[in-house]
Parts: sequence; C-alpha cells; structure tokens
Amino acid sequence: MKRTAASGTTVTATPATVTALIDEFAALSEPRSGPGVTRLAYTPLERRAHDVFTERMRAAGLRVWTDAAGNTIAERQGTVAGLPAIGTGSHLDSVPNAGTFDGVAGVVAAMEVARLFTENAVTHRHPLRFVVFAAEEGARFGQACTGSRIAAGLTTAADLDRFTDAEGTTLREAMRGSGIDPDRVDEATWMRAEWAAFVELHIEQGSVLDSSGTGLGVVDVISGSTRFRVDLHGRAAHSGGTPMELRIDALTAAAEIVLIAEELASDDEHDGTRVTVGRLDVEPNSITTIPGDCRLYVDVRDVDPARQRATADEVLARARTVADRRGVGFRSDMLADASPVALPQLVRDAMAAACDQLDRRYRILPSGASHDSQMISRVCPVGMLFVPSLNHGVSHSPDELSTAEDITSGIEVLAATLLSLDTGLQTG
Ligand code: GLV
Ligand code: MN
Ligand code: MN
Repeated sequence: MKRTAASGTTVTATPATVTALIDEFAALSEPRSGPGVTRLAYTPLERRAHDVFTERMRAAGLRVWTDAAGNTIAERQGTVAGLPAIGTGSHLDSVPNAGTFDGVAGVVAAMEVARLFTENAVTHRHPLRFVVFAAEEGARFGQACTGSRIAAGLTTAADLDRFTDAEGTTLREAMRGSGIDPDRVDEATWMRAEWAAFVELHIEQGSVLDSSGTGLGVVDVISGSTRFRVDLHGRAAHSGGTPMELRIDALTAAAEIVLIAEELASDDEHDGTRVTVGRLDVEPNSITTIPGDCRLYVDVRDVDPARQRATADEVLARARTVADRRGVGFRSDMLADASPVALPQLVRDAMAAACDQLDRRYRILPSGASHDSQMISRVCPVGMLFVPSLNHGVSHSPDELSTAEDITSGIEVLAATLLSLDTGLQTG
C-alpha cells in the first residue's frame, strides 16, 4: 500500500487491471485499416471508446456528461461545496495505425484513480474531474487538440469549416456524423472559475526516460507546433514523351523542399527544432505521368516560440524559391499554430513531491509532442507526468510500447499528486 503524506490515503494500482483496460480500448479499431489501432478523431469509433469510459465511470458511481465538443467528463464530488475542480485525463482518438498507449494510458490512469478512490472511500475537498478529450490527434484534420482547444476557447464554431480530412470531410461534418452538434461547440468552453488544476499522464513518445533509466518524467515545457500546407502546381505530362529539360515536375520540387527543410532543422542554430514533412499528396500519382500537382504537409516543432515561427517562415521562403526556380506554381496555407507552453512550478512541484513520497525516481524533461494540457493551460495550472516509452521511444506506430508496471507506478504518483493538490491549493 502506498501512502501519500498529504492526506494519509492509500491507493495501490495493479498492472493486470491496467493491461485489461488498454486491451479493451485497443480492440476498438477500424477493421481492415492495417496494423495497429486506427480510431480517428470525430468518428463513431472514437465515440464508442468514450462510451466505454462513460459506462465504467458511471459504474464507479461518478456523474458523467459529454460536452458540446464531444469531451467526456466524469466528476467525483468534493467535500467542500463550491471549490473549483482538479482534473486529470487525456484522449482516446488515435493516428492511423497507432499503438495502444498514446492518450489511452492517461485515460486508463484517470479511470483507475477514480475506481481506486471509490473502492478506498477516499475523500477530497475539491471535486475531481476525469476527462477524455475529443480529437486530440491532428492526423485527420491537421489541427491537434481540437476538443481541448474548444474547451480553452481557442477553437470556435466559426473555425470548423476551415479543416478538412483527406476525403474532403470538414470538421463540422465529421462532428455531426459522430453525433455532435457543431453549432453548439462554443457551449463547451471551460470557465476558469470552475478549474483549479489539471494533470495529464501520458507516455513519453521519446526515449529519454528509458535510455536514462530514470523512471517517470515531470514535464517542464510542452513544444509548440506550426503546421502548414504547400501546394505546388507543375504540368502533368507523359513520362515517356516529355524530355527532362521540358518538364515542370511538382514532385521533384517537393523532394527538394523536403530535403531543404531537413537540412535547415539540422544545423547548429536549430538544435532542438524538429521539421517534418509527414504527408505528400501527389497528382495524378501514376507511374507514367509526370506529377502535375503535389501537396506537402509540414509540421515545425520547437520549445522556443520565436525560433518555431522563424523556422516555419524560413522553410516557406526557401520552398517558394525552389518553386520559382523550377517554374512551379506555389501556394501555402497555415493549418494550425500552437505556442510552446512552460508548465507552472506549482504542479511540477506537486508531481515531484509525489514521486519522492512514493519513492519513485523521476527526471524533468520537455515534451516534444503536443498535448491537451497545452490548451488547458489557458484555463488553469497544468502538469504532465510521463511514463517511459520503450522500443526506442517510438510512438504513432504499432510498435509503441510501455509497461503496465510503469503505467501503474504513474497512476499511483498521479493519485498522490491529485490529493496533494487537493490539500495544498489555495482555493478556499
Ligand atoms: C500529438 O500526438 C502530436 O502530434 O503531438
Ligand atoms: Mn497523445
Ligand atoms: Mn498522438
């Protein structure tokens, strides 16, 4: 039994229960979608995963509701009326061909904390809210963290037609198709007065914790991300009939841009910057036709906001130069832009103290990935607790791996953190 100094309350999580829940969510995957889990943002399958959460939390005696953005929230009452909530949770949507831990680990952690607190009759002054955010992954619509952005007031109903998936479905249409009324999303905005703090457990999605053998991670800063699309317009023509010097090939221009972006992000000034061209759409995508059109999707990540925006501008400027030199038409569109967020010392200290109390090793590290907590930091102080990712830290891949023991350890630290925030926060 583990003891939290702040409250004297004991909770012990079990790896087998964690594994069973992770497996239950892993089974909710698009059939015939290839390896790994595919449960995209704002699909009926994502809603089904939220329903599993709802059923489990109701069974644990919590009040559960789904807000107008499709975020699902379960509340465990506090003992002092009128105090703001302390929250924890993550997301249940995935990228295509994902692993089974990204987002799910944090939701399972929230579910386990709720269950353990109920089983052990743990009381707390503040209400505790266990949250599943909708549509965290940017894989479908380009913008990450849509559910939490709506909660934070960063995305509104007016934005929903700006985003389309690969099939041309808009975010508005996808929401409607999964039973969410897009005209009402602004009702999902979280009121600052209702929230005291939020803590998200997540897998690291990198290899720092595993390779250094330091156990858990306390995040100090979450990287920002600037995403844009570049449309290159050349001339589709016969691959046999057109001599090399007479071509306007959109794909060779794109290839040059991909390599320039890689080179830029790899120089000394950009130590820590990450630039990725993760998607290329080629038209007509036929072996015997010179590619007439090519669309690149570029993602620039950094913990330094000025460098993040300067790098995005530089990639765009160099891409335009390539296009001009090759006589290729050029157009760019901004898809999404989120700033890096430094996480407050208050919540970091609570997590570090919880690790110390439970005798768990931890290190401070930045998050390379985006997270819902980044958006929720607009509403209340947030913290992030990382669990080691094995297999070289791969994520957004079926090879993603974390151990149930590490997640269990994270759940116990999360529980202790929530209880220490409950007693330590000056909220009433
Ligand atoms: C979220 O998974 C991200 O792309 O950072
Ligand atoms: Mn995630
Ligand atoms: Mn992800």
